[in-house]
Amino acid sequence: VNTESPLLSVPELDADPFAVENILAPHALQTELREAGPLVFLKRYGAYAVARDAEVRTVLQNWQSFTTVYGAGLADVRDPANWRELSPIAEIDPPNHTQIRAVMQRIISPARIRSWRQDFEEQARRLAAALAQKTDVNGVKEIVEPYVLTVFPAALGIEIGKENLIAVGNHNFNSIGPRNELFLKSQAVMDSIAEWYQAAVRGQTLIPGGFGQDIFAAEAAGHLPPGEASRLLMTLLRGGVDTTISGLGTALRLLAQHPEVWRELRNDRSRVKMVLDEAVRLESPLQTYYRTTRPGAEIAGVALKPDTKIQVLIGAANRDPRRWSNPDRFDIARPGPGHVAFGFGNHSCLGQMVARLEAECLLNALLDSIRTLELRGQPIYRPINTLRTLDSLPLRLMAN
Ligand code: HEM
Repeated sequence: VNTESPLLSVPELDADPFAVENILAPHALQTELREAGPLVFLKRYGAYAVARDAEVRTVLQNWQSFTTVYGAGLADVRDPANWRELSPIAEIDPPNHTQIRAVMQRIISPARIRSWRQDFEEQARRLAAALAQKTDVNGVKEIVEPYVLTVFPAALGIEIGKENLIAVGNHNFNSIGPRNELFLKSQAVMDSIAEWYQAAVRGQTLIPGGFGQDIFAAEAAGHLPPGEASRLLMTLLRGGVDTTISGLGTALRLLAQHPEVWRELRNDRSRVKMVLDEAVRLESPLQTYYRTTRPGAEIAGVALKPDTKIQVLIGAANRDPRRWSNPDRFDIARPGPGHVAFGFGNHSCLGQMVARLEAECLLNALLDSIRTLELRGQPIYRPINTLRTLDSLPLRLMAN
């Protein structure tokens, strides 16, 4: 281990992953960072970065050296200027995390998730029937957003006004990055809807039998710290809506660009389940987030400075040629998921089976009633610091 001069062998780069051009077209810079070395230092942000699959896994697995308690964003929350409320599950380490995660896993159990299938299918069928009457649609605004915003809050068992939920999510994912113009703009939007948000959060009505209620019951039974249930519910809403919309939007984009795959799936549904995983591998919804180094942290034989942020480039790792053959190819025949788009280690996504179920139900309903799906214009991604999500997906549909 090189402890004498920790930065000696670490390439120091001027690159800016949060420049708008790199957010909208991230792959060139991701390749540059991945090929510069197993560990790089981004001077602009005073942070390390890892962009290869192996090192991303090392960081995410090793919470003792790479903690999340100082915030999963670029800002170190110990600085009073950066204070914000932390996520009650994603921004804590073991042993606290282990306990809360176990309670949540019992609530969002595989059996519970399976019980939503009928409702998810029913909503998807309704949407597909309405779409079969149309030809030209925006796949984001008319397919993916309405679907996720209907089925997911219903599964959580909460009634919440949906109109501004997307703006809340966009701001959440901007705030993981630097305080740049994108952040400030979405902060201004948040300020303008603050009253709605407070009222929506206060006024959430829990539907009896939904799993929102189970979270409150776990708190009442003393399995969760007092006051945590409502914060956990909001975390699920913040982390589960925009990410799923992003993954499904990219999935539709890829299917529209690959008519041969659409035809294959119309005849044989066995690989429908792989579509979402391949979409989130290629365009990972949560592109990047951070950990903070503890004393003793090391990567690739290099001792890292403690109390330093390390950027984990999920999106870059998912196209690492050291891990994937033909990494840029959309290929639903890959053997199993194996990507890190849902994270890795103790914090890996709690809701991934929910997202997969939404994808399976929506895609099957569309495959049932739509014969062809084509792009009729350029898909446009939305500039958000850490979320890769489509703003516009102009599609032409031909019903059966
Ligand atoms: C395609 C959709 C989704 C993607 C790509 C995604 C991605 C991720 C990633 C990368 C993490 C790890 C964060 C970290 O290590 O700091 C994570 C954690 C988490 N996700 Fe998701 N997610 C998705 C959908 C969902 C859904 C639908 C829910 C809710 C049901 C959800 C709830 C959570 C929670 C609660 C955590 C924190 C887990 C923990 O800290 O133990 N996610 N997700």
